[in-house]
Amino acid sequence: MTPQYERLQKCYEIYKEKIHFEPRVALVLGSGLGDYADQIDTRAVLEYREIPGFPISTVPGHKGRFVFGYVDTVPVVIMQGRVHYYEGYDMEDVVLPIRLMGQMGAQILFLTNAAGGANYYFQAGDFMLIEDQIATMVPSPLRGANIEELGLRFPDMSHIYDEDLKKLIRMTAAELQIPLKAGVYMQNPGPNFESPAEVRMCRILGADAVGMSTACEAIAANHMGMKVCGISCISNAAAGMTPNPLTHEEVQETANRVAPMFKKLITASVAKM
Ligand code: 6GU
Repeated sequence: MTPQYERLQKCYEIYKEKIHFEPRVALVLGSGLGDYADQIDTRAVLEYREIPGFPISTVPGHKGRFVFGYVDTVPVVIMQGRVHYYEGYDMEDVVLPIRLMGQMGAQILFLTNAAGGANYYFQAGDFMLIEDQIATMVPSPLRGANIEELGLRFPDMSHIYDEDLKKLIRMTAAELQIPLKAGVYMQNPGPNFESPAEVRMCRILGADAVGMSTACEAIAANHMGMKVCGISCISNAAAGMTPNPLTHEEVQETANRVAPMFKKLITASVAKM
């Protein structure tokens, strides 16, 4: 057993001891969406600080707890606040909560984030279904000894985002008449936003949206056999595409503005999972 797997098992034991609820869908809430968890039919809460050795977010506006409950009839666990690589954690720590939710029994991981638009056809406030991702600017969360109990040393990443879940989300958005763009999400290390030259590079490499999370989580979930889906809220155009400087406040403002529609889309999608 690797030390990281031992650590995961210790976290799992705390969950088993305190929480008697098995989720089917694991949901990660990005910037501006955190209060979604306050609106669901909540059955239990587990604060990250109750779990020894658990990574805890240092970003203002990010809470730190798992919320267990029902979205429609679907049992879910919601990560209210995620940890980011830029906070200084190693990638294997960043994805520990994802792995824990997988161990809790979640078969589906639904990732959300606020991201910068690198595609000129995107506007602030757009939603982007994540079709695929680029994570080569950050270390892999699978670096180091492989956790054989979870998955393969060299896992295939041909379909990181589950094709059936993509269809489900596309259909749900159409039913709700919520416009939904689609594209490739690229994770950069942060915490600084990209320079205009870096944004051009990302676009040339195939990115439609740039962010500081998500892709590493999707890799870890894929590794352990979870089905993954994700939606980005395009909170702003990336640097160099408009004359405006980028701020975290703008990211939060846009995310807050479109949060009601985002929540509708998430609820209706999860209800079908
Ligand atoms: Cl422009 N870049 C990155 N890396 N993350 C973001 C963003 C931009 N806007 C929101 N999140």
